[in-house]
Amino acid sequence: MDKIEVEGGVQLHGEVRISGAKNAALPVMAASILSDGEHTISNIPHLRDIVTMGRLLSHLGLEVQLEHDRIKLQSDRIQSFEAPYDYVKTMRASVLVLGPLLARTGEAKVSLPGGCAIGARPTNLHTMGLEKLGAEVTLSDGYIHARAKRLNGATIYFDIPTVTGTENLMMAAVLAEGETVLENAACEPEIIDLANALISMGADIKGAGSSLITIRGVTGLKPMDYKIIPDRIETGTFLVAGAITNGTIKITDTNPDYVDAVINKLRETGAEITLGDKSLIVRGPDRPIAKDVKTLPYPGFPTDMQAQFMALMTIADGTSLITENIFENRFMHVAEMRRMGADINVEGSTAKVKGVRYLKGAPVMATDLRASASLVVAALAAQGTTVIDRVYHLDRGYEKIEEKLKTLGAKIRRIS
Ligand code: EPU
Repeated sequence: MDKIEVEGGVQLHGEVRISGAKNAALPVMAASILSDGEHTISNIPHLRDIVTMGRLLSHLGLEVQLEHDRIKLQSDRIQSFEAPYDYVKTMRASVLVLGPLLARTGEAKVSLPGGCAIGARPTNLHTMGLEKLGAEVTLSDGYIHARAKRLNGATIYFDIPTVTGTENLMMAAVLAEGETVLENAACEPEIIDLANALISMGADIKGAGSSLITIRGVTGLKPMDYKIIPDRIETGTFLVAGAITNGTIKITDTNPDYVDAVINKLRETGAEITLGDKSLIVRGPDRPIAKDVKTLPYPGFPTDMQAQFMALMTIADGTSLITENIFENRFMHVAEMRRMGADINVEGSTAKVKGVRYLKGAPVMATDLRASASLVVAALAAQGTTVIDRVYHLDRGYEKIEEKLKTLGAKIRRIS
């Protein structure tokens, strides 16, 4: 199992290019199920999750060709309507084939994702929505099994805004009879990206990016040629990497609008951030100022940046309260940061982080994707050497992270 070794204490300087967004690429890839023909999707990041989605789509009968940052998906023949446990257990986002498979073939069977390192993560809102569209949904033998001759438009209210739930329902509704209204829908930029991809295929969708999305069903769609948006969480992670090392990093090929909440919070901590058209420059403070943060659905502070922000707060001047409102178990990195000398106490959904002057390198273990990123970021600022175990989590969501950090001057290497 690969490990990453970081010798901390180096200020990062230079320029880094942001890759395409994993969480936009995955649903857009799933959307290729919706029409026959050859789809081309560009700005695809090279990640384990992308490979897993490619394998799942080819299991369903699509021909998948991944070359450089482009993926071609030929979807003339769907030969299976089942996403088996083997795919879903390695990547929960496999559940994204549920909506498009049902819409295209009238039937979809997707293994139920279990709980994971960050929470229980139920799928009740996905299935509730499909039932509202007229599907017959059963849960048995660990599978969600949905059937419908043709879906019918309906008004669907989400108790909680759910990102992949909104995406699944949007993909199911594009081929439904009549109008579907999604209320209290998730507003993340990845939802807008999926809507734009679907619109380029001929779908009729209005309001994506707001909490009210209206979809008028069409009878057929055409293949897409679509470019994925930049990854806002990778952008935020590099912003923190610059801030925590007191460095200066230019982040290119990104969209500053997507990271507004992160930029504002980092500025409060003393980081200087200059906005360009598609770029950002971050200059880290001598020592960050402690600031509180609460994670919220977009445009609030993203849960996917909570762990990295906590890394910054471990060395801040003062005490900060970090509240996780989206997932009930997303503090697994706390115990690992404590091994590096951080002073953190968790009570319920809030972590109280008392800044220390220095973190010290230690052997630590990654528990999920963003927790891994936070340990890398913490290690960059720590005195001495940190070895991060189980970095396969990192490879699920960060393209060439050690190469990118190395270009910025970090002393980092992968141990195979
Ligand atoms: N929820 C329900 N029922 C449902 C669905 C969700 O109660 O049927 C709850 C969840 O338990 C959670 C909240 O709703 O408390 C929001 O979860 P959401 O459904 O929005 O999360 P997700 O769609 O499973 C996506 C990202 C996650 C990101 C979250 C929140 C993808 C593939 N995944 O997950 O990304 O943390 O939205 O922004 O888009 C990551 O990339 O590391 C990652 C975990």
